[in-house]
Amino acid sequence: MDPDPTTPPDDVLRAGVIGVGWAGRQHIAAYDAMPGVELAVIAGLEEAERTELAARHGVERDVARWEDLLETEGLDVVSIAVPTFLHARIALAAFERGLHVLCEKPIARTVEEATEMVAAARAAERVLDVAFNHRRRGDIQALKAVIDAGRLGDPYYAKAWWLRRSGIPTLGSWFTRADLAGGGPLLDIGVHVLDYSLFLLGHPAITAVTAATYDLLGTSGFGSDPDSGKTGATDAATFDVEDLATVFMRLRGGGTLSVEASWAAHRTDQDEFGITLYGTEGGAELIVRDMEPSGSLRIFTDDAGVPAETRLTAPPGRGHRAVVESFVETVRSGDHDDADGAGAAELARVVDACYRSATEQREIRLDP
Ligand SMILES: NC(=O)c1ccc[n+]([C@@H]2O[C@H](COP(=O)([O-])OP(=O)(O)OC[C@H]3O[C@@H](n4cnc5c(N)ncnc54)[C@H](O)[C@@H]3O)[C@@H](O)[C@H]2O)c1
Repeated sequence: MDPDPTTPPDDVLRAGVIGVGWAGRQHIAAYDAMPGVELAVIAGLEEAERTELAARHGVERDVARWEDLLETEGLDVVSIAVPTFLHARIALAAFERGLHVLCEKPIARTVEEATEMVAAARAAERVLDVAFNHRRRGDIQALKAVIDAGRLGDPYYAKAWWLRRSGIPTLGSWFTRADLAGGGPLLDIGVHVLDYSLFLLGHPAITAVTAATYDLLGTSGFGSDPDSGKTGATDAATFDVEDLATVFMRLRGGGTLSVEASWAAHRTDQDEFGITLYGTEGGAELIVRDMEPSGSLRIFTDDAGVPAETRLTAPPGRGHRAVVESFVETVRSGDHDDADGAGAAELARVVDACYRSATEQREIRLDP
């Protein structure tokens, strides 16, 4: 007899998603689309959004608080897509219940919280993965293939950025409070830039950082994104994080990487991120404006003394779908040795050093 299609097979993974903001919605859609996964429960404080999402994705249970979600019977995996101050608290509670965790970036507010999360994942022998969806973009993957094929020779300098003119994710929301977010654009969007840059460069160790941060526009009320609609926004407009960060990093082997991240700056009114790389055999430039699915990707080489330029048309990537699928694959594989969040915790260590460098106005060495 054919199995009843309405009865989930035994190896179906039961998933929960905490948070129904932009990030939570990406996880909800990704689990819902995955065969072999049942999205069993979602949590979020906004009742109307939560119940609408539950109905749309056929989720049997929806609750307001994360504590109630973790009590759900038979849960295997949970995604954490809530304000950053809650990441460590929820992850530790999830590991205590034996769940595998996919956490939104940044892993946590501080390197101390990140280190605690990694230790808890190891002790519980559970997966801790962090959602770095930008490196899954088609244009970043295409550039990686070009670098791995040796077209640039040895890349020795890269400059990468994510810059916005008025992209503060709502003045007065949790994003602009250091105690809730842990930092401004360097930790929010700069961490994506750092992640894709190091991915492209083959993960060289960062040996030293010199950073400067500024808060001149945010503190004067300039630069809030009117469309971001983040939770908990108040008229008080607290702003005690940076609105612009610039960092110079030394890499093991002699290379260098420069990173810029802004939520607010007097520049063209486009959201723009990208990277320029110079190598011994060629250079590359990727620019993505206003979150277009595939950015402008050019490779520069020398063709028998003549400057050559190749334009690549990369397909769009699958973003959070790819992130969630790879997390589920790791959970199912049973091979959890390298899935403890240590890579994301290392980025937290680098960001922490950048903030220290900015405060102390000096280079911070990161040698192990
Ligand atoms: N990977 C990406 O590209 C990306 C993009 C945006 C945000 N993020 C990250 O995702 C996280 C959430 O960001 P967002 O933009 O979706 O924020 P948001 O403010 O829009 O949404 C936060 C959600 O968390 C919920 N929440 C807050 N407290 C809760 C509690 N006690 N119990 C249950 N739910 C609770 C809120 O109700 C809301 O649904 C952040 O860490 C952010 O850095 C990642």
